[in-house]
Amino acid sequence: MTVAEKWVPSVRYRRDHLLILDQQQLPHHTVYLNVTSIEHVWDAISKLKVRGAPAIGIAAAFGLVLWSNSEKDNQLESFLSKLQVQRNYLASSRPTAVNLFWALDRVVRAAQKAVSVEDAKEKIEQEAINIQTEDENTCRKIGEYALSLLQDGDAVMTICNAGAIATSKYGTALAPFHLAKERGLNLSVYANETRPVLQGARLTAWELQANDIDVTLITDNMAAHTLKTKNIKAVIVGCDRVAANGDTANKIGTFGLALQAKALGIPFYVACPLSTLDLRTASGEDIPIEERPEEEVTHLNGIRIAPEGIKVFNPAFDVTPAEYISAIITEKGIVSGNYKDSLSVLKKENS
Ligand code: MRU
Repeated sequence: MTVAEKWVPSVRYRRDHLLILDQQQLPHHTVYLNVTSIEHVWDAISKLKVRGAPAIGIAAAFGLVLWSNSEKDNQLESFLSKLQVQRNYLASSRPTAVNLFWALDRVVRAAQKAVSVEDAKEKIEQEAINIQTEDENTCRKIGEYALSLLQDGDAVMTICNAGAIATSKYGTALAPFHLAKERGLNLSVYANETRPVLQGARLTAWELQANDIDVTLITDNMAAHTLKTKNIKAVIVGCDRVAANGDTANKIGTFGLALQAKALGIPFYVACPLSTLDLRTASGEDIPIEERPEEEVTHLNGIRIAPEGIKVFNPAFDVTPAEYISAIITEKGIVSGNYKDSLSVLKKENS
């Protein structure tokens, strides 16, 4: 097993190709895929080689850059209509994380301001670079706000990986732990393993351990017992989409944690950038929930663990109703209570 470096970027742009950290090979191998085409980007997103809402958006934005850099059409109108087709193609790679559509649309809007194909190509590239660069600052601010809710010495629970490798740097739910480390504060983290793809065991455990953060791995069915017996002060999760009323989609198992936290009187926080707020989606019922291949449930490391022919239900996400969320932590501040009003004010103030 490789010893993880403290910061391993999820996506690196190299003009004619991308280097995408293959998160399916972690924690055993730190391998970058050499990604040269938009089809390759689609494949990397859909197979979870790059995953986590902000990182998916970043990879997709650079997917449009790869297409644009190799496109020969020199008529602006037809170039822009082909760009829209490519945008729709990448938008079909995964359905739940709204950052994917947000990033793609940002790039398309930037290109629509161009006066020539050459100008459009420059604008597409610049917008993708901006999306990636801004995300680092955004995540750091989320971390600062999240840290203001915690005390030195606190133990906190999380699920999935909403960390540096799911973003540009720092992460969302994991940002306070990285910042605490920088500031000499000691927080400890209980990480749910996060079946079926084990983003908690493979990624969060690896990422926090690499930064010398006190992390303890548990299986998902240990969460209630751990919350009750380990003096956990808060649960912090990332998210893939927040609806206008505050209902929040995140990795499957998140809703269960929210119910347990509420029953035990432990605050349950959602950390996300404003780009994850989707005010056009009224409530959680309207958020599309991805269902993934049954092999993710019937097999572990390629070995079948369930009988042939068994029926499988494999939703990748669930929706936590707003009433179970103590606060939503964004880069522009913390909101709680009436999410319908506070989220729309927050979004309007920052659009
Ligand atoms: O299926 P994944 O691994 O893409 O799911 C990721 C999550 O659910 C994360 O919590 C979410 O995208 C936030 S990442 C900062």
